[in-house]
Amino acid sequence: MTNHRIALIPGDGIGAEVLPPARRVLDVLGRRHGFGLTYTSYDWSCERYLRDGAMMPDDGLDLLRDKDAILLGAVGYPGVPDHVSLWGLLIPIRRAFRQYVNLRPIRVFDGVESPVRGARPEVVDFVVVRENVEGEYSEVGGRMNRGFADEMAVQEAVFTRAGVTRVLDHAFELATRRGGRLTSATKSNGIVHTMPFWDELVAERAARFPRVSWEQEHIDALAAKFVLAPGSFDVVVASNLFGDILSDLAAAVAGSIGIAPAANLNPERDFPSMFEPVHGSAPDIAGKGIANPLGAIWSAAMMLDHLGHPDAAEDITDAIAALLAGTAVRTRDLGGTATTAEFTEKLIELL
Ligand code: NAI
Ligand code: MG
Repeated sequence: MTNHRIALIPGDGIGAEVLPPARRVLDVLGRRHGFGLTYTSYDWSCERYLRDGAMMPDDGLDLLRDKDAILLGAVGYPGVPDHVSLWGLLIPIRRAFRQYVNLRPIRVFDGVESPVRGARPEVVDFVVVRENVEGEYSEVGGRMNRGFADEMAVQEAVFTRAGVTRVLDHAFELATRRGGRLTSATKSNGIVHTMPFWDELVAERAARFPRVSWEQEHIDALAAKFVLAPGSFDVVVASNLFGDILSDLAAAVAGSIGIAPAANLNPERDFPSMFEPVHGSAPDIAGKGIANPLGAIWSAAMMLDHLGHPDAAEDITDAIAALLAGTAVRTRDLGGTATTAEFTEKLIELL
């Protein structure tokens, strides 16, 4: 029997509340489809930072290296600056393991009310492919003259031919397997060095994927179109910052940030990939047992797909669709009163 070694990093806040449901679902699927999962849990979090002065231990990355995948809840908590928690855990993992593709599927499920009137169930179904290791999230820059009137901050965006090309190829390949359409987010009218470079590379790579029809759209107009015509997208590819913003917007259009999943992929499989819900640690509802576990559960489905179990992954997304379309059980973010445990129980029943 195939066995997969999974690292679990619950993290902070509701991260620790949504991972146990995901694990329960994974175990059901393992039994049904005949694969095993062994878990190792790590307490890396803001709580650990406040106790030990670091989000993870010095050899943290080495502990993860031999795992087949990482499932993460959420990190970030009041009292620890967000850039500390992000750069102390998530970003080092993404970069050390060359998880340069961040995949965020967006789907309006039947039975979920979108805040956007035109977002019809099952019509809105697309994927945001975000560049995950370079771009605007760079360490190049600095602060000067702190505390003086001429205080300043400079941060350089870094776009490399290799880095942009590989994520574009991934997006074009995905479009080939999906609906054959790709939209590239740009801002080459305002950002005159990196974005024209991005556009040139899009056109260059597009020539290798003649079956994909593609267009580029400025990020501001594209944001408006996500709201006005969310049903018109198939694969959207974007730089690190643009993709981050677009995918949260898209998750909101889909009805709740509590459902949206994300995969941080190392497509070459030289290193483990990481799967995590899009949402954060939600300190406002943490500890109440009312968090929506679907984002974590759908992320677990993406993990199974990556580990070579697409049928098991589809069982999960089918059960999520059935839960939302066919029952009235809902967590509070979706307008219901169910607890995390009750919502999970119903999903397991449908599985
Ligand atoms: P958030 O996603 O934690 O919360 C935003 C709003 O959505 C809150 O009202 C929250 O209650 C609600 N919400 C989020 N997930 C939910 C779920 N599963 N079920 C029901 N309601 C849910 O974003 P926020 O408030 O901006 O950030 C809080 C902390 O999380 C910060 O420290 C931030 O840095 C961190 N964060 C971490 C992320 C990660 O680990 N990947 C991603 C985003 C934020
Ligand atoms: Mg984000």
